[in-house]
Amino acid sequence: MERAVRMNYGRDGWVALPDVLSDAEVGKLRERIGALSTQRRPEVVHEAGSSTVRAIHGCHAFDEVCDRLIRLPVLLDIAEALLREPVYLYQFKVNIKAAVEGKAWPWHQDFAFWHREDGMAAPDAVNIAIFLDEVDERNGPLEVIPGTHHLGLLGSDENGSENTAGKGDWRSHVSADLEHTVPAELAATLAQDWGKHKFTGPAGTAVAFHPNLVHSSSNNRSAHRRSMLFLTYNKVTNAPLNPTRPEFLVNRDTRPVVRVAESRL
Ligand code: SIN
Ligand code: MN
Repeated sequence: MERAVRMNYGRDGWVALPDVLSDAEVGKLRERIGALSTQRRPEVVHEAGSSTVRAIHGCHAFDEVCDRLIRLPVLLDIAEALLREPVYLYQFKVNIKAAVEGKAWPWHQDFAFWHREDGMAAPDAVNIAIFLDEVDERNGPLEVIPGTHHLGLLGSDENGSENTAGKGDWRSHVSADLEHTVPAELAATLAQDWGKHKFTGPAGTAVAFHPNLVHSSSNNRSAHRRSMLFLTYNKVTNAPLNPTRPEFLVNRDTRPVVRVAESRL
């Protein structure tokens, strides 16, 4: 992988990943996720008090196309180049953010959940986000505060020594009423120093971002859905020892991901 990609990721906590999937591959995924979102199963989560699907988790465990996706060499090459060790898949999720109904994600750092809830020791994982729809200013793009991954975990519960692992309700980790947030006032102060950046672009756009990068997204105020797929790869050596959240949020298979032979989905 290009040195520039590693350098930008190290500096900003995120980096754009050009040419990851073809239009046909994105179309295939979109179709598959559409079918999965009609299923009623614990992995499929709805917006509060609504039948609108908010997110689908762990699809690689029950869908063959999603299983192939996590094994694509192009994605594993990126994850292993950024983490510099063999990786396994920690989490697979699709946030649908339906037109009009899709709700926000308050400011947070992903590692707050993985460390405090699951016992992940270090932020030695990486998110690869893939747009399944076009994302613009109005349909709730992911917004990041570049550079904040240098600050470590923020927020008060990290200062106390209490281990909260396994005590939270996982539903509050996937809802708009989110646990482990970065307070809005703190995010506003951070944004003054570090700036903000919104991820927008056509379907198929892909970015990698760091577990400690402060990020959020607003309600979908438009008539266009904003679905995004997130793969989190973790170093095999950084697997939490005794996670308690459901397997569709914290994969228990921590063996290095085996690449598919063909390079395409
Ligand atoms: C996330 O923070 O994990 C997802 C945010 C989003 O889908 O906008
Ligand atoms: Mn997040």
